[in-house]
Amino acid sequence: MIKHEYDAVIVGAGGSGLYAALEASKTARTAVVSKLFPSRSHTGAAQGGIGAALGNVEEDKPEWHAFDTVKGGDYLVDQQAAKILAEDAVRAVYDLENRGLPFSRTDEGKIAQRRFGGHTHHFGEGPVHRSCYAADRTGHMILQTLYQQCIKNDVSFFDEFQAMDVIMDGNRVAGIVALELATGEIHLFRSKAVLFATGGFGRMFKITSNAYANTGDGPALLARAGIPLMDMEFYQFHPTGIKGMGILITEGVRGEGGILRNRSGERFMETYAPTLLDLAPRDMVSRAIMTEIAAGRGVRGDRKIDDYVMLDATHLGKETVYSKIPDIADFCKTYLAIDPAEKPMPVQPTAHYAMGGIPTTIDGVVTTGTVTYDGLYAVGECACVSVHGANRLGTNSLVDLVVFGRRAGMHIADYVKGASMPSLPEGAEEAAVKKIERLHDGSKGPHVGPFYTRMQEAMMAKVGVYRNERPMTEAVDLIRTLRDEFRAVRSEDTNKAFNSDVLGILELENLLDLSLVTAASALNRKESRGAHSREDYPERDDAGWLKHTLASLDGQDVKIDYKDVDTSIWEPKPRTY
Ligand code: FUM
Repeated sequence: MIKHEYDAVIVGAGGSGLYAALEASKTARTAVVSKLFPSRSHTGAAQGGIGAALGNVEEDKPEWHAFDTVKGGDYLVDQQAAKILAEDAVRAVYDLENRGLPFSRTDEGKIAQRRFGGHTHHFGEGPVHRSCYAADRTGHMILQTLYQQCIKNDVSFFDEFQAMDVIMDGNRVAGIVALELATGEIHLFRSKAVLFATGGFGRMFKITSNAYANTGDGPALLARAGIPLMDMEFYQFHPTGIKGMGILITEGVRGEGGILRNRSGERFMETYAPTLLDLAPRDMVSRAIMTEIAAGRGVRGDRKIDDYVMLDATHLGKETVYSKIPDIADFCKTYLAIDPAEKPMPVQPTAHYAMGGIPTTIDGVVTTGTVTYDGLYAVGECACVSVHGANRLGTNSLVDLVVFGRRAGMHIADYVKGASMPSLPEGAEEAAVKKIERLHDGSKGPHVGPFYTRMQEAMMAKVGVYRNERPMTEAVDLIRTLRDEFRAVRSEDTNKAFNSDVLGILELENLLDLSLVTAASALNRKESRGAHSREDYPERDDAGWLKHTLASLDGQDVKIDYKDVDTSIWEPKPRTY
């Protein structure tokens, strides 16, 4: 076992982790521990842009952005946090520009902006150009920019290390335990502050836009350490994943004028969102697609959930397609042998983004509202601050990363100045060491493959876009069974170096735990709000359910508690677009 000591350890090297590291490193000896090489982090898959009311193309205001965020999130958003998000977005975008991010430009040389779902002017009057973009590679550019800055600022990187445990001393963090994938060695990091920025967990679903690495490692470690997770029932399905594969087709296609059509070629969003049409928020567009499919108006017309619709960009012309969405054109050529400038793209909703996660303050400090954890932080998709509420608007994830990543980093930089180095409890690494030993104990267990298939199919079919009591109960029961059977799983590969069998088992454990919390939280919430759409409780119920869920994992049980929503600016209203 190898020991390290840092003032701050950041777990995850996506946009929020890197931004936090950049700020923390101003006073703290900072290490970034990442399961991937940093520039392969999933932030790099964010395509269409980062929302900020720069007003470069038309009039815009942060206040409209904040309002859209609250309304888009079906009023489960904490409104002061949304205000910070929208106001600070403008500074954040110029900051990224100053650090070297090559944004696309208007003819006058300003940062170019495009329309995106749910972003409006004058509190909902019509779509607004708010998404600042670098073609359809915005997240990739953010990642490269921030990684360069971290290298320049002497942040230490531990690449390809899988976090296995968080070490707590009561309510104070003391460090983490991680597995070095290249060697199979266990590393113990002692630290005054630990920040989790491990991203999402879309791999619990069969069709997802998420990378293989998105297995919810941070939230799962904390859930097993007894820390509740917030609003886990709210999982976003992006309307346009490539049929059967889930690979993201950016909303930027619709922002540039792309149109969704059913099997008869009808622009069906006219029925569901007469004002914003194809640029309604994602929960509404995904539901509209599934409703078209259920009515036999999908392209196949067989009413099965894996039917699809078409996204038509053919009228945009080759020049727009190849210059504004070049990666999409490449994906379609590579995976579908289709040129989107010539033929419509077959799409279906794809599991995309977790609105819920580790509950935090606006400075990334982990808190349930009643219990606060000293030195423990979370930011980005694995966290819940909560600016996305029940449904995130497109482009707001990148804003979240840079605005709250920076705030958490600044908080850490200050915190470590006054904090002593915690002492590590005796045998802090033991649980992780024993776990690895058990996987190699020589007994023969089932392979992980079928566990993934059963979990992903159940979560997709039973805890997907539309939800009902019975299927969700079946999903909860199945996940419990899988968690029981999982204990017999062993590594077939006996090597220590780059043992992807072991990694897959650790990741599956995390996904199973988060699937249980997600399905149980969804079963518990008896209303429809944002991305949580129950056919058996079709109405939003503010009297009963305008509250955050706090879900604690307790063996095979999930204990539910609640936390108030901050509605201090806008009174909740019915959502029409
Ligand atoms: O559609 C997209 O480009 C995705 C953006 C996002 O999730 O914010």
